[in-house]
Amino acid sequence: MKSMDHVPMVDLKAQHDRIRRDLDAAVARVVDSSAFINGEDCGLFEKEFAAYCGVGSACGVANGTDALTVCMRAYGVGPGDEVVTVANTFIGTGEAILLNGARPVFVDVDPVTYTMDPERLERAIGPRSKLIVPVHLYGHPADMKAIVEVAARHGLPVLEDAAQAHGAEVEGRRVGGLGHAATFSFYPAKNLGAVGDGGMVVSDDAAFVARVRQIANHGGGAHKYDNLVVGTNSRLDTVQAAVLRVKLRHLDAWNRERRERAAAYTKALAGVPSVGLPRERPGARSAWHLYTIRAPERDRLQSHLKARGIATAVHYPRPIHLQPAMAAAGGKPGDLPVSEALCREVLCLPLYPELPLEAVARIAAEVRSHRETAVVRT
Ligand SMILES: Cc1ncc(COP(=O)(O)O)c(C=O)c1O
Repeated sequence: MKSMDHVPMVDLKAQHDRIRRDLDAAVARVVDSSAFINGEDCGLFEKEFAAYCGVGSACGVANGTDALTVCMRAYGVGPGDEVVTVANTFIGTGEAILLNGARPVFVDVDPVTYTMDPERLERAIGPRSKLIVPVHLYGHPADMKAIVEVAARHGLPVLEDAAQAHGAEVEGRRVGGLGHAATFSFYPAKNLGAVGDGGMVVSDDAAFVARVRQIANHGGGAHKYDNLVVGTNSRLDTVQAAVLRVKLRHLDAWNRERRERAAAYTKALAGVPSVGLPRERPGARSAWHLYTIRAPERDRLQSHLKARGIATAVHYPRPIHLQPAMAAAGGKPGDLPVSEALCREVLCLPLYPELPLEAVARIAAEVRSHRETAVVRT
């Protein structure tokens, strides 16, 4: 934060300043090696990140959207198939389904954790279902135990969209190892962010990860110009891998700092009738990617904070089943009442490890001072 006058949503410069020397050395090492694609750091980061998630294999890809798209290809998702997911997510989750020629089936979410409702999941599964994709939204893990149980009853794999949840846990086990496979994004503002785009697929199924790697590398075989299946070019480059190796060492400490700031918001905002506060499901440990409150008069509150130099964000203003890009899926208003209400009411407050606790106190005081007439219902 540059001054008490303006609070940004994220401050990557503050993060990079803390580790500047290690970052500079990592980038310089890659530049000196000129091994920009498939350099040593790529393989090492895959091993380190797989170990962090508690799984056996990982494959770096170009971004989180490609991670989902390539995984779905690896599952054989295609025309005539349905992929069951949620609508209050980033568009990339849905794009991956349509890009593979399949149909997204959206299920509504739990109003407390904003993640896939396992009971509604059960009802959404049909004969064409091929894959289930829960999203760990805002860093909070979906109810994986219940979701995996439903999936197992129907013989379906679960692919975790963990783009927002590096380091989140369910009963002591990190996301990434809770389904059949998982995808991550290393978009710069994520809990673990690159200095550009990046993504990762992790799984305990080594053969699946090998398939992902083949598709993400032009369908390659044992030799450079063997092209065995139609693939694409989606790789995590060496500069990003080197930077991410440096940052991975700090991820748990940064997540603890996020947690501390989230707890400070929750304490300072307790009892404000016009806002709903995020809560963790028993047994779940959020990575606190975002601190997202609910406010029935969200737009007015956002303007109030903006006028006082406090940046906020709306993730997301429209559920993806109502995005024109998803029209082929046939979604209409009223299909998903909880997701649609959330999109009208959610507001993300600034949250990053370096955010001064005094700033949290000031932001909370400004939220409190904004007198709303409506009372939030949860
Ligand atoms: C839930 C979710 N899924 C997928 C993605 C896509 O990741 P990327 O931006 O790296 O393509 C994001 C990124 O914002 C995300 O938040």
